Amino acid sequence: MNSVATTTSLRSTDFDFVSSLIRSQSAIILNRDKEYLVESRLMPVARAHGFESVTHLICHLRAKPQKHITDKVVDAMTVNQTSFYRDQSPFDALRLHLIPELLRTKANDKTLSIWSDACSSGQEIYSIAMLLMENFPQLKTWKLRLLATDLSDQMLARARRGCFNSTEVSRGLPKDLLTKYFKQQGDVW
Ligand SMILES: C[S@@+](CC[C@H](N)C(=O)[O-])C[C@H]1O[C@@H](n2cnc3c(N)ncnc32)[C@H](O)[C@@H]1O
Repeated sequence: MNSVATTTSLRSTDFDFVSSLIRSQSAIILNRDKEYLVESRLMPVARAHGFESVTHLICHLRAKPQKHITDKVVDAMTVNQTSFYRDQSPFDALRLHLIPELLRTKANDKTLSIWSDACSSGQEIYSIAMLLMENFPQLKTWKLRLLATDLSDQMLARARRGCFNSTEVSRGLPKDLLTKYFKQQGDVW
């Protein structure tokens, strides 16, 4: 049988420190089998802040927690997988049930707010925007607020830019919506 051996130089007390920090800041739970991930994801953070290893970075944070570094540590441990219209069924539920119901119940004040929390690089909120424009033209006269937030500053910056490469637009986004709602600039849409 083939096997892959992974090694980590992280001490268990260091892993426990990181795992409890991540849990308290994000509610993300890191099990022990993720030790290799802590090491590989935190190495660039350690280097960027002038530490020679992840162990040195953790030692520093234990002695002197600094928000700008802990934020980077938490950000580095997030999983940012996403795609347009991901999992399809929530979007079907929005289109077939939730939005029609909200159109009825909020017909008087004509305001609608939709919040994509944990939005990652933004495909979710842009999918919602396209879904509304494609299926509910009557919302043009409503006060509409679409909000996207994420724990990760890096992901939020990407979501804000709204630029996607050809691999990203090939995941879940129908061709007709791509040409209708996006402009191509080189490799980026
Ligand atoms: C797997 S992505 C999901 C993206 C999108 N919602 C989707 O389903 O396609 C998870 C995102 O949650 C964010 N995240 C993790 N913990 C969070 C928290 N406590 N508050 C806000 N965002 C969080 C991560 O930064 C990451 O971008």
